[in-house]
Amino acid sequence: MNESIFQQVCREIKELIMPSVIVVGAQWGDEGKGKVTDVLASNAMHIVRAQGGNNAGHTVLIGSNEYKLHLIPSGILHPHTQCYIGAGTVLDLDVLIKEIEWLESLGHSLQGRLWISPEAHIIFPYHKQLDILLENKKGNLAVETTGRGIGPCYADKANRLGIRLAELVCPNHFPKLLKAVLCLKNEELTQLYGVKPLSYEAVLAEYTSKGIFLNPYLNSFESHLYESMKNNENVLFEGAQGTFLDVNFGTYPFVTSSITIASGICAGAGIGPCDIDHVLGVAKAYTTRVGNGPFPSEVIKEEVFIDHEQAREYGTTTGRKRRVGWLDAVLLKKAVSLNGLQALALTKLDVLDPLDTIKICIAYRFHGRMQHHLPRLAQDCEWVEPVYEILSGWKTSTRECKEGAELPEKAKNYIRRIEMLCGVPVNLVSVGPKREETIILQHPFEELKKRK
Ligand code: IMP
Repeated sequence: MNESIFQQVCREIKELIMPSVIVVGAQWGDEGKGKVTDVLASNAMHIVRAQGGNNAGHTVLIGSNEYKLHLIPSGILHPHTQCYIGAGTVLDLDVLIKEIEWLESLGHSLQGRLWISPEAHIIFPYHKQLDILLENKKGNLAVETTGRGIGPCYADKANRLGIRLAELVCPNHFPKLLKAVLCLKNEELTQLYGVKPLSYEAVLAEYTSKGIFLNPYLNSFESHLYESMKNNENVLFEGAQGTFLDVNFGTYPFVTSSITIASGICAGAGIGPCDIDHVLGVAKAYTTRVGNGPFPSEVIKEEVFIDHEQAREYGTTTGRKRRVGWLDAVLLKKAVSLNGLQALALTKLDVLDPLDTIKICIAYRFHGRMQHHLPRLAQDCEWVEPVYEILSGWKTSTRECKEGAELPEKAKNYIRRIEMLCGVPVNLVSVGPKREETIILQHPFEELKKRK
């Protein structure tokens, strides 16, 4: 019997004996995880998103087509993959449905390829309203959230007031639950914030129809994923946000509301830590951050060394201009230990191409003393002065480099210095937004295949 192309790809991938790899952000998000996931997905059969919501925005450039994905794993753009959205995520159903319809309209068939955990929580209109209302009320305590309802949804989840997809698609249960929850939420909206209540009938009708649309995609896929890993099929976990936006270990309270580090990805996907073979941290060759909060190596005004337009440093989700700074090796080293990183993927190296000199933050001076960690309190971070090592720039384009050996010597020095400071190898370097503008020094799947 003739093999279909799909069966052939699956067989070839399986023959490589692929492991499971987590791709996680090692800074404050926007590191280029979408592109790295897309590149690695050509060798993966299963791609999983496990935490966060549409506060994330993953951009992938294929040829001249730019894809911006907020909820569906970027691996969906490879037709051979199966994609999953895990229990640890919070889902704005409007955004999810639009993303499904948009991908379908581009010819990507999703039925039978996209699976959504019924345990994932739903972001309702009151979550988005409360996110914005609370931010406005907080004054200078405001986090500058994305306004997508992420915090209020995770708060309701922890408070046992959340509504999951499992409840949404249960016609006997959803109306009663929504009525009870909306009664409490409307009290909050009207009495605490003095705004109009939401209509129960309107929310019920709207969400019931969204539930009908999404029902075919719901699947408690954790056991299937487990079996796939036991069967040596490779799985790629796509992190969202970044290590220092983690609700436990980030620059609290200027963080998001999910666990963004590698262990949170295991928890959100329903996978045990021993089933992960490799954790790859994605870091920009410099640092950016959006929203308020500490950023010791930030530069301002005439010190800004990038052109925001050319470097595409506007938020994918909110369009906000990103704050920018030098690579912070102190934080990157901390990201190595918090995530158990085995390697780094360094993105946007090409953005540094024109610079005469490049700085790396190697320590902090705090009240006259050198230290290698941030103060515990965010407000103390204001007094932290970065200590820089200065390297000379390579002043030549890296965009055309296809292999590590082709990189300019000074760019290689910069990469080696990062490796030394962080204690892990840089296995992938991105020198432009396109798939082909990627230098794979050590392929995580290939490396693990040799070890197995
Ligand atoms: P929230 O996740 O919308 O509650 O926002 C909390 C903080 O995390 C804000 O400073 C956001 O700008 C930041 N944030 C959330 N998601 C992302 C992301 O995907 N990339 C970069 N920053 C993010």
